Amino acid sequence: MEKKLKIAVLISGRGSNLQAIIDSCTKPDFPAEIVAVASNKPGALGLKRAEKAGITHYTVNHKDYETREAFEEALLQVLKLHNPDLICLAGFMRVFTPYFVEAWPRKSILNIHPSLLPLYKGSKTHELVIENGDRETGCTVHYVTEELDSGEIILQKKIDVLEGDTPETLAARLLPVEHQAYPEAIETIARQKWEEN
Ligand code: GRF
Repeated sequence: MEKKLKIAVLISGRGSNLQAIIDSCTKPDFPAEIVAVASNKPGALGLKRAEKAGITHYTVNHKDYETREAFEEALLQVLKLHNPDLICLAGFMRVFTPYFVEAWPRKSILNIHPSLLPLYKGSKTHELVIENGDRETGCTVHYVTEELDSGEIILQKKIDVLEGDTPETLAARLLPVEHQAYPEAIETIARQKWEEN
């Protein structure tokens, strides 16, 4: 097995996407390992998942910092201890300033977004899908740039919108699809990196 990609995962809450990545990383052939998890929300369920998996985890509470840059600097310090190749945002509910994004090489931050980008950047994606009468929706794994939900797309997965769907039923049906998409995207990136080097 070739060298593994070192990933750090940033969360704010439930951490079910984190769990999907943790589970994938236990497979011997999966080309990545989690080196750290950090949450901006104290007590996030995802931190317990990290703990259970024996992964080093941190809380960097944004409320403890006066500016966004000061928070980002504290997060940078913690992440740099682990020298990650890739930072995966998984339900991380803070928007980064260019300060954080520019501190890493291009294409080293990933995000999962619950819509078929470029449709419905930002929040309330499922509400908008229903309001607009869309017949399908999905999730997107993409690189993070200075511009919100706009970086290069790595992969998308679709689901049908069914008669009677609500934002809640859509989110629930999409979640297991996200859990496949994120590890798949990480695997794609890891393989690309090994081919490049
Ligand atoms: C997911 O739907 C993800 O697409 C969005 O936030 C949610 C996070 O869920 N960005 P979880 O914390 O991974 O369970």
